[in-house]
Amino acid sequence: MTAELVPLFKKELQECNVQPGETVALMSDSRTNPHYPAAFMGAAMELGAHVFEVRVPFFTAGTRRIVRAASDDVIPPHGPLEAMKAADLVVDMSTVGWLYTNVHNQILGSGTRTLMVNNPPEVLRRLLPCKEVRARTRAGAAFLEQGTKLHLTSKSGTDLTLSKKGRKGIFQYGASDIPGRWDHWPSGQVACAPVEDSAEGVLMLDVGTIVLRIEQYVPEPIRCEFKKGKLVSMTGGGIVGYLIKEYMGTWKDEKAFIPAHVGWGCEHRAIWIEQALPGPGGGMDAESYYGNILFGMGANYFIGLGGANVTQAHIDFCIRDCDLSVDGVQVLKDGAIVPEALK
Ligand SMILES: [Fe+2]
Repeated sequence: MTAELVPLFKKELQECNVQPGETVALMSDSRTNPHYPAAFMGAAMELGAHVFEVRVPFFTAGTRRIVRAASDDVIPPHGPLEAMKAADLVVDMSTVGWLYTNVHNQILGSGTRTLMVNNPPEVLRRLLPCKEVRARTRAGAAFLEQGTKLHLTSKSGTDLTLSKKGRKGIFQYGASDIPGRWDHWPSGQVACAPVEDSAEGVLMLDVGTIVLRIEQYVPEPIRCEFKKGKLVSMTGGGIVGYLIKEYMGTWKDEKAFIPAHVGWGCEHRAIWIEQALPGPGGGMDAESYYGNILFGMGANYFIGLGGANVTQAHIDFCIRDCDLSVDGVQVLKDGAIVPEALK
């Protein structure tokens, strides 16, 4: 497999603007597919970059199978952290979450760019960064950056408002090519961190909504009610509703019930059914699906997003067929992007 991956990973490193003489750090753990660091090592060498691997035991993230979104202790504080801060690009192939952590913020703050890679090779190849998605996500983020109020509605009963006053609009296109930038290959989405006490109203998770972290499709509608920024009730959904509540409750932290990020998918090549296929799908088809609403709950304090909610919980809802307005301008109608400039 390694030999097959080298040309693909070389293309991805080129999308990340890896230059001869730059330093690429490969971050992995003992559960990482060993072909991935090996292929990235070959790809980086072909581009004339310096490359090294940091490999940590996955047990550092604890003994629970529920992956924490905020595991500072994944990265040993002495040596590996400094090495990654000194690199130009960190390719993160670890199987434990450290996106929303202080150590990740420190690495980005040093000017290092980081790229998460944990999806199956078929998905990586199908969703290699492309110029259409780059343009679409950049345009969407620039539009969202200017907005202050989000209004979500749907035929199934969603009617939810959130403030994003003072918050960034961010883009993911699956490549980390700017100093201090994080991205996740593959990706195609626009997002913001809503103001933490601002969510008011009802969010419906209709049949077919994908719930990442527990990797489930919603079998019957779930009604989520928000007051003063917090999820105060959740009804319906059968076993999936039960599992969401169990996941969120397990942290014994009220910050798990605060929205983390809201945005929309821009990847026309994403496939909704991918998450239901046997084997790990990786979730990025669901997150990036064109016109889908990605609604995250919990941690959002990674500096790229600029949120203030510090918790170990994080769960994502991928919702189709919604309407979204930003300051009264309709962005999505029944899950389709409306403004010509954002299509
Ligand atoms: Fe998320």
